[in-house]
Amino acid sequence: MKKIGILTRDCAGINTAIRAVVRSACFEGLEVVGVVKGFDGLIGGDFLPLDKRSVSGIINLGGSILKTARAEAFLTRQGRKKAASVVKDKRLDGLIVVGGNGSLTGAHIFTEEHGIPVIGVPATIDNDINGVDMSIGADTAINVATEALDKIRDTALSMERIFVVEVMGRQSGYIALQVGLASGCEEVLLPEREHDIVAVCDEIEKGYAQGKMSWIIIVAEGRAKAPAIAETIHQITGLETRMAVLGHIQRGGRPTAFDRILAARLGAHAVKILTLGKSDRCVTLNDGLLGDILLADAILPKPMDIEDRYHLIKMLT
Ligand code: F6P
Repeated sequence: MKKIGILTRDCAGINTAIRAVVRSACFEGLEVVGVVKGFDGLIGGDFLPLDKRSVSGIINLGGSILKTARAEAFLTRQGRKKAASVVKDKRLDGLIVVGGNGSLTGAHIFTEEHGIPVIGVPATIDNDINGVDMSIGADTAINVATEALDKIRDTALSMERIFVVEVMGRQSGYIALQVGLASGCEEVLLPEREHDIVAVCDEIEKGYAQGKMSWIIIVAEGRAKAPAIAETIHQITGLETRMAVLGHIQRGGRPTAFDRILAARLGAHAVKILTLGKSDRCVTLNDGLLGDILLADAILPKPMDIEDRYHLIKMLT
């Protein structure tokens, strides 16, 4: 193995992973190229030579220095065939793909169809990669959202209002659940759990009658939209209600120390197993131990134990 490529999605910690991949590959005497704009750049042959110096000063930067895009063409067999011919032309011996479910699914199909060695590195704020304790970016997202919730609580308490706050996570309620616990919110509406808005309003009205004047309800984007929930609560209870959608602020920003350490370890491990001849694998750091699992397993739905944490949130309210 002489030359490898790296392509990414974006979230906090991705640049730390790029740095780790490039520097550990250089340490092994490998040449590295960055693929600009993800799978689109792979099809177009948009490559950037990377050396130790070109990844200086990025350890703490959000986003991806390689940029990224949603690659419609890579979803087609023809697009992937073109990408494979580019990889062969440019003499890449292997590829490291850093991203979430979509990226790892693309990586898996690509290596299956074309035999090009590929290793996946889990990076998504949704933390929904199966068999992976923590994906890069999730810890930062939880910290960013918790900080935002702390600020919202200041007004919720001062103005005695109900707030409905929407967090990201696609079909996963992971961010909502963790942030709910970390910020001491009163209710969390999750994609994985049915909710009864009338019962929520009942609880609010009972609390209100006993002197509880402010509420924070977190809603995962995969469950419902914050404006609709806020409006329904206002209609039913008549109480003043505000809403906030946190959106992409959760995906950006400086990675936490946890995410940096995770990204450094997973990035270097990806290079290591690629040079050992492994392919079609996703690197993991579970219970403090580095490992790797089949990409085919990593892209399966990740079960999440919700009930314990949900009931703790309700008990601590
Ligand atoms: O998968 C990460 C994520 O941020 C989800 O939480 C969110 O639903 C989605 O991506 C947003 O995608 P886009 O940036 O393409 O709007």
